[in-house]
Amino acid sequence: MQDVKPRLAWGITGSGHFLRESLDLALSLPHCDLFLTRAAEEILPMYGITLSSLRERTRVYRDTTASSVPVGLFYYGHYHTVVIAPATSNTMAKCALGLSDSLVSNLFAQAGKTRVPIYVYACDTEPEMDTEAPKDWVKVYPRAIDLEYTRRVGEMEGVTVLESVEALRSAIEQRLQVAPKPTLGEVHRDLDLLIGEGGHSNETAA
Ligand SMILES: Cc1cc2nc3c(=O)[nH]c(=O)nc-3n(C[C@H](O)[C@H](O)[C@H](O)COP(=O)(O)O)c2cc1C
Repeated sequence: MQDVKPRLAWGITGSGHFLRESLDLALSLPHCDLFLTRAAEEILPMYGITLSSLRERTRVYRDTTASSVPVGLFYYGHYHTVVIAPATSNTMAKCALGLSDSLVSNLFAQAGKTRVPIYVYACDTEPEMDTEAPKDWVKVYPRAIDLEYTRRVGEMEGVTVLESVEALRSAIEQRLQVAPKPTLGEVHRDLDLLIGEGGHSNETAA
């Protein structure tokens, strides 16, 4: 895997809704690292997707530390853009309220604090939706509070909430045209620095 930066950071949460489509898009992009919540890691195999199959395609960070060590990379300019897709009701509520207690809610918070643009595709966009459960498609009815948090996140500075994966795709294409281009980077040096600060890389296999 080529160590170049700045890269794109893609947060995956524990959502079956458009999980495959979001992952397909993420894996089609150059220099795109995945950040998984614990729930994401749990549900991936329910949709027939293994961690090792993702690791063959890109770098994957797991949610194994209390302080979300990998998001420290934002302080060293490793990422030009953050995408969170799909984003669960849970993660959207945390982001809207300014909570950061999972890898992806920390991704959102640290990107905001370092002024890195954020693109979000939320599960809850309409009062009635079809969603993919592990065995079948089912109807769900996002609550008023879920839709309210989606709306509030979309109003935050530097955040764009997209209504569909297709809209997300074209927003990312436009962003990549103006985002800083990756150069040969210093990822190892920065990771060493992080490790020296007391964290540890959690990119290791489960
Ligand atoms: C098979 C499966 C599919 C799920 N799909 C969704 C979903 O589409 N949207 C959602 O908001 N939560 C969904 N959940 C529930 C979340 O995984 C759960 O709320 C979890 O706490 C979210 O944690 P996270 O936001 O840190 O990823 C699903 C759970 C399971 C087991």
